[in-house]
Amino acid sequence: MSGASIRLQRWHGDAPEALLELLRRAVAGTARTCYDDDQIDAWLSALPDEAGWRQRLADADVIVAWADLQLAGFVALRAPGIVDLLFVDPGCARQGIGRALIARALVRARALGWRSLECDASLLARPLFEAAGFCVLRRQSVPRGQCRLTNFRMAFELSPIRS
Ligand SMILES: CC(C)(COP(=O)(O)OP(=O)(O)OC[C@H]1O[C@@H](n2cnc3c(N)ncnc32)[C@H](O)[C@@H]1OP(=O)(O)O)[C@@H](O)C(=O)NCCC(=O)NCCS
Repeated sequence: MSGASIRLQRWHGDAPEALLELLRRAVAGTARTCYDDDQIDAWLSALPDEAGWRQRLADADVIVAWADLQLAGFVALRAPGIVDLLFVDPGCARQGIGRALIARALVRARALGWRSLECDASLLARPLFEAAGFCVLRRQSVPRGQCRLTNFRMAFELSPIRS
């Protein structure tokens, strides 16, 4: 997938199961570099079924990334200022797609008139959000099944668009 051209666009609600499959691949693949097998299994077990997933996306603002013609990643925003989901296909990792999705999410959040954004960033995503200007508010230990997963509550203050 290296060298692919990346295209970002608003998601219009088609094939939500493709986003869930990508999320599963990202957790099972890339996230394994930062969490142990029990934590990954617990994370995967806590994922919604397809009906729950459609429900979760129903009121989200989702931006998808395409690498050539393949779905490569997505970010979901939720009012009033949450980055709810950020996942990149392991086959497209470390090509700047996560960075590009966050940058586009900031543009979208400003367009929506939001004043700030918060997220729960994984160990893997924390440097990415920091590079985009997010600050860590606190370290968290989140229960998932029998395990606990470390993540970071992070925040970004959005400056208003100047006319
Ligand atoms: C986190 C994630 C979205 C990053 O996507 P990506 O497209 O690979 O990220 P980018 O190529 O834009 O990387 C930007 C920076 O993030 C950091 N980063 C990304 N992947 C990393 C990895 N596997 N190990 C260490 N740092 C990593 C690096 O600082 C990287 O900059 P660099 O490549 O110049 O060193 C992706 O790895 C993913 O889906 N992970 C699994 C699920 C997850 O943790 N999601 C976040 C939930 S908040």
